Amino acid sequence: MSTPSPAGATAVVVVAAGSGQRLGYGMPKARVPLGGETILTHALRGVAAAGIARQVCVAVPEGDSELRALCEEFAAENGPDGPLLSVVDGGATRSESVRAALEAVLEGTRWVLVHDAARALTPDRVFHRVADALAAGAKAVIPAMPVVDTVKTVVASEGGDAEIAPELVTGTAPREELRAVQTPQGFDLETLLQAHDSAASSGDGHAAAITDDAMLVELLGTPVHVVKGASQSLKITTPLDLIIAEGLLEGPLGMRWVEG
Ligand code: CTP
Ligand code: MG
Repeated sequence: MSTPSPAGATAVVVVAAGSGQRLGYGMPKARVPLGGETILTHALRGVAAAGIARQVCVAVPEGDSELRALCEEFAAENGPDGPLLSVVDGGATRSESVRAALEAVLEGTRWVLVHDAARALTPDRVFHRVADALAAGAKAVIPAMPVVDTVKTVVASEGGDAEIAPELVTGTAPREELRAVQTPQGFDLETLLQAHDSAASSGDGHAAAITDDAMLVELLGTPVHVVKGASQSLKITTPLDLIIAEGLLEGPLGMRWVEG
């Protein structure tokens, strides 16, 4: 029996329902202009170019007709041979938006990749590394990069220390063991649904502190595999990130010089 093709059994969830507070553009981040288009358009193009999905489920802010229209344009651009596009209203937290999009996933789907629209410039090779690891048997796989800064844990200063500085160091994490995690994160669909259900039943399912899906799968005790991410897969979070993303698109050497 041949291995089922990932593309035929894979859905990509794109979460684009955030408000973009830290970017400070006064509009949902997915609608913010990037290289003459929007962040969401770039993200959807990246997903389509990777060619790994039969369905793309996008979570947009509730009632955002502009982003819904952008999704329609994307579907029209891809034509009938492109992936099926489903658009849902997202929730108040990223995790709720993921859950809402998972409800739209077609029956018979085996694998799902969950991707942040804010990682608008993720290259094909990252989607492929994740899809390949799923096809090779991983139930959960995340792309990640080494951490360049030294990372410390801190607590709020108290008493006299608070007059000197607001925080005190409690320890230094061993940098060689740390990874900065990106998306798309890939999962066996059943495992991801179980992870979300289990978090929801423990009352933690909608907490803002759930910043990625792998966290929930880790709680099940399921191994989470790590593949190499890419620097241009940065999450556009702050105005500086947007400048970097524009630079990657417009720079004299374009994106070619950013390897990895
Ligand atoms: N996201 C979502 N639904 C939410 C919150 C976030 O779909 N309720 C999505 C965002 O649209 C983004 C991804 O999750 O693509 C990562 O979130 P983040 O970078 O934090 O985006 P925002 O929440 O929009 O930004 P901020 O936290 O600065 O408001
Ligand atoms: Mg956020």
